Amino acid sequence: MTLPAGIKVCVFDAYGTLLDLGALIGKFQSDLGDRTEPLFKMWRRKQLEISWLPNQIFVGADFWLVTGEALDEAMAAFGISDSGLRSRLMDAWLAPYSYPEVPAMLERLRKAGLKTAVLSNGTRKMLAAGIEAVGIGPLMDALLSVEDVGVFKPNPAVYKLAVDHFSVDPRSVCFVSGNIWDIHGAAAFGFNVVWVNRAGVSSERPPRGMTAMTTTLAELPALLGA
Ligand code: LAC
Repeated sequence: MTLPAGIKVCVFDAYGTLLDLGALIGKFQSDLGDRTEPLFKMWRRKQLEISWLPNQIFVGADFWLVTGEALDEAMAAFGISDSGLRSRLMDAWLAPYSYPEVPAMLERLRKAGLKTAVLSNGTRKMLAAGIEAVGIGPLMDALLSVEDVGVFKPNPAVYKLAVDHFSVDPRSVCFVSGNIWDIHGAAAFGFNVVWVNRAGVSSERPPRGMTAMTTTLAELPALLGA
């Protein structure tokens, strides 16, 4: 699988793609012990499921609120009631970690003349804080939040934000995500897509004609000739 010529913009999902969600929860091991990973998995699953509920269309796309609702459900499921821990878990989204290869990868793309952006379900505040925390703000041409359209991915209105922002055709965009459902949405919109399949999952069905799959972001510049 190779990427076609003519790509001008590289657009990245944030959580689970640039930002390492495993590292985000890692610091809660002493609070949660064996429950750390199962609680986090449930939290993330509920966060996404709530974001996919159709009524979100009417209440706006507030991923901070959704993240809090999902955390409350997950904590209740584990019988945990601790408002201090809840606040610290929420704040972790504002101080995440990037995957280690991210800064060098972005530098290579930009040196090759490609534009770079984040396109995320995160609120503007979550994205600004998170991208600043990992120090890659200067390597991004744009931070695009679903807040601007009021619906979550994989609604096509979200992917359209990127083409509108850069005034390009979807075929000039390479969309990169670690989330397979996001890859499906982006491919359906007409983007070239790169699925970062870090866990080496073989059971997920990629979109028909998917452009490429990698195991880390370190492989991306070569795919783009950068
Ligand atoms: C994002 C989440 C959903 O949009 O991964 O960043």
